[in-house]
Amino acid sequence: MGPNYRLAIVSSLLAFLLVEPTVGALVEQQPLVLKYHNGELLKGKITVNLIWYGSFTPVQRSIIVDFIQSLSSPKVPLPSAASWWKTTEKYKGGYSALVVGKQVLHENLSLGKYLKSRHLLALASKFNDLNSINVIITAKNVAVDGFCMNRCGTHGSTRPLNGKARTAYIWVGNSEAQCPGYCAWPFHQPIYGPQTPPLVAPNGDVGIDGIIINLATLLAGTVTNPFNNGYFQGPPTAPLEAVSACTGVFGSGSYPGYPGRTLVDKTTGASYNAHGANGRKYLLPAMWDPQTSTCKTLV
Ligand SMILES: *[C@@H]1O[C@H](CO)[C@@H](O)[C@H](O)[C@H]1NC(C)=O
Repeated sequence: MGPNYRLAIVSSLLAFLLVEPTVGALVEQQPLVLKYHNGELLKGKITVNLIWYGSFTPVQRSIIVDFIQSLSSPKVPLPSAASWWKTTEKYKGGYSALVVGKQVLHENLSLGKYLKSRHLLALASKFNDLNSINVIITAKNVAVDGFCMNRCGTHGSTRPLNGKARTAYIWVGNSEAQCPGYCAWPFHQPIYGPQTPPLVAPNGDVGIDGIIINLATLLAGTVTNPFNNGYFQGPPTAPLEAVSACTGVFGSGSYPGYPGRTLVDKTTGASYNAHGANGRKYLLPAMWDPQTSTCKTLV
C-alpha cells in the first residue's frame, strides 16, 4: 500500500501546539525540500479511469469528472485548476496530461460496505492500461480500513502480474456522513485543533468538495511519486508528497486552523481559488513548487 494522506495535519497541529508559546515572535521557516529518489514518475498522456463504489448522483459525478478535465483545460479565467496542475511540470520530466478514460458504476456494493486494502486492490485491478491511474471513489455509506482514523484516501500501485505493467491507483472516500471535520475541512468545523468558521463549499456539496481536495492531493502525489521512489520528504512509509507536504494551506496567510485567503463567490458566498471547466469553481490545496521550495498558493 502506498502513502496515506492526512497524517500531515496531525503533525502540523502538533508542531503548532509545541511552538505556540513563541507565536507572535518571528520564527525562521526551514525551506521545505522534497527529495527526488530517482524512480519513475507519470508523465505524458495519462488516462484516469473512475470506479464509483456505491451511489453517487449524476451531479456529484460531473463535479469530479469536470475537475479532472479542468486540470487540462487552460482556456478558463485565472487562477485556474490547470495553472495549479502546471506546477507538477516543474518536477523532473515535463508535463502530465490527465484524460478521463473509462468509468464503472459499482452501485451494488458487491464487495460489501466495509472495504479492506485487498478490496481496494481488487477494484483497482479492474483496468490495466499503460500510463493510467485507476481512481476508486467510495460513497458516503461505505467504510474503508483506516478511513477517518488516519486517512481520507490513499494511493499506491497494483502488483505486476505475468509481465503486465503495475498500475497506479487512488482511493478517496466521501466523508460527508462519517468524518467531514477530518476529511472535508475547511468546509466543515474541524474535529480538533484551532477553530475557524467553515467555508461554504464551491459546488454546494461538502462531501464532494472534500473529495476534490483529497483527490487533488492524491493525483499530484501519484504523478510525482507513483511507486514510492519519486519525490517525497521523510520515510517512504509515511512520505510527505507534492501536496500532502503542504497540508492545511489553501491560500496566502494560512496558519494552523485557518486555510488562508480565498476568492469568494458573491452570489453563493462560496470560497474557491480555481476556475475550472464548464464554469466550475474549486478550492485547491497548495502544492510544493520545486523551483522555489515553497508551498505555492493560487491566491
Ligand atoms: C456489481 O456491479 C459490478 C460493476 O457494474 C459488476 O461487475 C458486478 O458483476 C455486479 N455484481 C453483482 C453481484 O451484481
